[in-house]
Amino acid sequence: MSLNMYQYLAKNMADPESSILTALSASPETSIPDTWAFSLSQNLDHNTVVGLSKSLEGDAYVSLRELSTQFYVLSSEAEEILTNGSQEMRVLRALVNSGEGGMAMAELENVVGKDICKIGMGNCLKNKWAKKEKDGRLVAVVGEMNDEVRDMLGLLKESSGDAAALDDKALAALKRRKLISLVTRKSYSITRGPAYAPQRVKKAADLTKEMLDSGKWKDTPFKPYNFQTLGETVGGGYLHPLLKVRAELRKILMEMGFQEMPTNKWVESSFWNFDSLFQPQSHPARDAHDTFFIKEPAQTISVPEDYYERVKTMHEVGGSGSIGYRYDFKREEAFKNLLRTHTTAISSQMLYKLANQEGGFQPARYFSIDRVFRNETMDATHLCEFHQVEGLVADYNLSLGDLIGTIETFFRKIGITKLRFKPAFNPYTEPSMEIFGYHPDLKKWTEIGNSGMFRPEMLTPMGLPENVRVIAWGLSLERPTMIKYRIDNIRNLFGHKVDMGMTKNAPVCRFEKANEEAENQ
Ligand code: PHE
Repeated sequence: MSLNMYQYLAKNMADPESSILTALSASPETSIPDTWAFSLSQNLDHNTVVGLSKSLEGDAYVSLRELSTQFYVLSSEAEEILTNGSQEMRVLRALVNSGEGGMAMAELENVVGKDICKIGMGNCLKNKWAKKEKDGRLVAVVGEMNDEVRDMLGLLKESSGDAAALDDKALAALKRRKLISLVTRKSYSITRGPAYAPQRVKKAADLTKEMLDSGKWKDTPFKPYNFQTLGETVGGGYLHPLLKVRAELRKILMEMGFQEMPTNKWVESSFWNFDSLFQPQSHPARDAHDTFFIKEPAQTISVPEDYYERVKTMHEVGGSGSIGYRYDFKREEAFKNLLRTHTTAISSQMLYKLANQEGGFQPARYFSIDRVFRNETMDATHLCEFHQVEGLVADYNLSLGDLIGTIETFFRKIGITKLRFKPAFNPYTEPSMEIFGYHPDLKKWTEIGNSGMFRPEMLTPMGLPENVRVIAWGLSLERPTMIKYRIDNIRNLFGHKVDMGMTKNAPVCRFEKANEEAENQ
């Protein structure tokens, strides 16, 4: 039966792995003495044979012993000599052929070539095969000689570079002429290993559901555990983007001389969250639809009583030139506990402390970055809880210009240089301004914050000196974070839908300080 080409190839293309195992199959003592010779005889690539042998050794099918073989290889000049004879022999031949008169150097160069002439001439003179006449002509003094160099190279080549083919003097002479060089070859001898079998069975690395279902696991050979291997690196300890941005903003505010306010409590009384800020008790924001009130404990324990009285009076009848809101201020309403709706509740307490501290009022700059809660309908940009960044400066005779300047400095440090201010309303500030910024990344104007000068109705009851003004501004931490990390849905930033991979891979936050270039864009 004749085979077609593909069948022929399939039959005769040796699978190197089974070639190795088959070569050891005759008896337990059978070996492959040298993988080099083996590869040559099997027409296999030596590196492939070595790689497979090592892999077989890993499964104990074979044992390897390293061999190191030294042998000589012939240079290309030596190969040339093997075909055409040594340089000195070619020079001698040319001289003999030229007859008794010999040859001038230039003539000889013409016949044998310049390089051959140079080396060959030297050796002929040294061997006393030729001599130089007084007129410079070169003359042969012997006839045809035995080409020793060529013979030695021939012997070495025949024995595949084996040093034993020549004596030491001969080897040294050939080495001196750079015709041969010594090479070391690594190879292996192979014998059977403890788990030798003529056919390798691949061991399974994992126990699969399929093996369990089919019962195949019972006769599947498994790889042994490798207790030396390094485990997978354990992940953990990644900062959420909000925390990265917070750290950066905190640094910027500290640079500007602001001190952090203690915002480490979420539950507040309505008194501090609203009343102290001159927000009337009937204000719609104080509705349960907008604010999360606390059921248990529903009421705060205490507020500073004398201050409470002054706040109550301010709401009911006014003072400092204000006529107040003219309604009955209710203690029960003021004492209601809630989840703070803004960090301004803390700013208010800090200002009260500042007014009443020992030694009296001192100018101060405060900031906070912390969580607030609002009973909002959630959408792509609103959650019930988010974070506010708030800053305030309390000092004598501050103006709206100071507020604008401080805000500009702050936003410049986070890369926003073009600002617009729009009149707005807050119960506790007058004037109030919404802050719009041209965002160089987004290339558009967006609302980035709210600001104002705290009203005298808020500051006088605290006991702050009359000419002390307090400028303040606030923004959400989420807004700059979403812009920075290109997150367009707040639910991908905060809450149970957040991808942990996002947190893990989010780069560090760095705000490029604005430069002229950015400004002129
Ligand atoms: N408390 C304001 C808010 O929740 C922000 C603000 C802070 C406004 C300070 C003016 C001054 O939006």
